[in-house]
Amino acid sequence: MALSDYFKPVPGGDTAFTVDPPRIKFGVGSLSEIGDDARALGMTRIGLLCDPTVAGLEPVATAQKALTSAGIDVTVYSDVEVEPTDRSFKAATEFAQDGNFDGFVSVGGGSTIDTAKAANLYSSYPADFLAYVNAPIGEARPVPGPLKPHIACPTTFGTASECTGIAIFDLLEMEAKTGIAHRNLRPSLGVLDPSTMTTLPPTVVAANGFDVFSHAVESLTARPFTHRDAPANATERPLYQGANPYSDLACLEAIRLIGKNLIEGVAAPADLDRCEPLMFAGMLAGIGFGNAGCHLPHAMSYAVAGLVRDYKPDGWPSNHPMVPHGLSVIVNAPAVFRFTGPACPERHLQAADAMGAETAGVSLEDAGDLLADRVIDMMRQTGIPNGLRGVGYSEEDVPKLVSKAHPQQRLLVNSPKPVGESELEALFHDSMSYW
Ligand SMILES: [Fe+2]
Repeated sequence: MALSDYFKPVPGGDTAFTVDPPRIKFGVGSLSEIGDDARALGMTRIGLLCDPTVAGLEPVATAQKALTSAGIDVTVYSDVEVEPTDRSFKAATEFAQDGNFDGFVSVGGGSTIDTAKAANLYSSYPADFLAYVNAPIGEARPVPGPLKPHIACPTTFGTASECTGIAIFDLLEMEAKTGIAHRNLRPSLGVLDPSTMTTLPPTVVAANGFDVFSHAVESLTARPFTHRDAPANATERPLYQGANPYSDLACLEAIRLIGKNLIEGVAAPADLDRCEPLMFAGMLAGIGFGNAGCHLPHAMSYAVAGLVRDYKPDGWPSNHPMVPHGLSVIVNAPAVFRFTGPACPERHLQAADAMGAETAGVSLEDAGDLLADRVIDMMRQTGIPNGLRGVGYSEEDVPKLVSKAHPQQRLLVNSPKPVGESELEALFHDSMSYW
């Protein structure tokens, strides 16, 4: 393809990519407009999902007021679990079935939006729970048709669940994090109101900002869509189609906004002038990875989050050990960039430049290192733990981390460089500490 050398065709590879843009409304005050949005989508009787903490906060009250003023019936379900499981997805599905709703609104973080996607799916097209779950754990059956309208209203930034057709959860009996991925799961409308995130603690802003950054860099440096096998059926291109010219646009701007605003955003999390660009970056990166897909830092993060022993982060409501998603991703990222740099050095150099690194006179072979060094510098300035050791791991944990990350094939195949168990082993060793 003439758009870029990166997308040169290869024999047997795909020759087309799809563009699935989410429908988004962005801006301060947009949450108070959702009554009109819900009516326009034909909703009259809504199930509103949130978690027990968000249930008592301003955004839920604002959403409820907007909906009832528009004459819409609202029933609130506040039992969403943060870090949802198959059990909590099933409980929300029961709520969705019993309520006989004609639409859903979710207010909260990625867990809440993902739970609403699952409840909408299983109440619209009932099936055995594993039917729609990603292979090899589930059958990865395609969603049979359109779902009921769903307005997703994030109260944080980073997961970009409002932009994607992905719902992530823990399958309890296998102690595995997996998900359901299909474009019909994407919410009908995402409403991003930056004023909902002015109460986030600085540690949460830092972790989520780096999650956004990693979504964007992973999508930009993913294997090109032309290197994925062409689909047997033209309608069955995967959501994670690889790097493509559309995702590139969104990702580079997301990286630039993070590079420019994250350090000050962490220092002053209530400053609306910082919340706006950070939330917008999260949305752009969501558009990017929703059409391209992530790779190694996210594949490794599932192991880092899943095998946690005693790490308890500051600023998160939970008092049990956990490695929050953004931290579990970014502790691997510098080691990954040093590894993937040689596979697409121009793209690593572009990312380093967008992130604010000094690129003048840097040779292409140093691009991965330059990006890694810039990230490490920003991690130190924003209080991120020093690699895997910083979140409680040591060298002895590497074999277990490898065995948990290796099954994440959907992500691993999207890496610009082939990755097997020995490469993962080296990457986990290299992620132990950075300074
Ligand atoms: Fe992420």
